[in-house]
Amino acid sequence: MKNKIKISHVPFFHVIVAVDDYPAMKKPLLKLMANINNPVDQSTQKLSNQDFFNPTEESREYIDFFIESIRPEMIALFNVLNAKDILIKNIWFQQYKKGDSHSWHTHVDCMFSNIFYLEKPPGTDTEFFNYETQQPYAPIKVDEGSLLVFPSYISHRSKPNPSDKRKTIISFNTNLLT
Ligand SMILES: [Fe+2]
Repeated sequence: MKNKIKISHVPFFHVIVAVDDYPAMKKPLLKLMANINNPVDQSTQKLSNQDFFNPTEESREYIDFFIESIRPEMIALFNVLNAKDILIKNIWFQQYKKGDSHSWHTHVDCMFSNIFYLEKPPGTDTEFFNYETQQPYAPIKVDEGSLLVFPSYISHRSKPNPSDKRKTIISFNTNLLT
């Protein structure tokens, strides 16, 4: 498991975790998401489907399946980070068809933001904002099927999807319990 977890401090602290079960997770997760139909078209985000605005108490089948699927990776992650546990605060998905985007934002009331790339066509890397240069950092390359963990105060965005293929991410906020 350890070689599946890459910790880096460049250009800021982040962790990339390859998820073992990813090939078996992809189809069922996409099928469960297809039961939800919540496109959003706002000034800050245009998404073909998402559930961020669903009530948090509403049960969503894909969440249970996802959390169970990534449990081994999350246990390995908090072990590597010398923590006792990881508390998942909230969880949501976003689907980007061609041209869909989400502008600069941070995640509040948590230590880490997490992005799991379920479908990641070329040219859809998340961009991160360098507060020193006031420009985006060079992209952090993350493969489809991997989880990216980074400090929640780092502003990030998803530029318009240039691909004919859909981008799907599952995002969640976490606190480390030490
Ligand atoms: Fe985000």
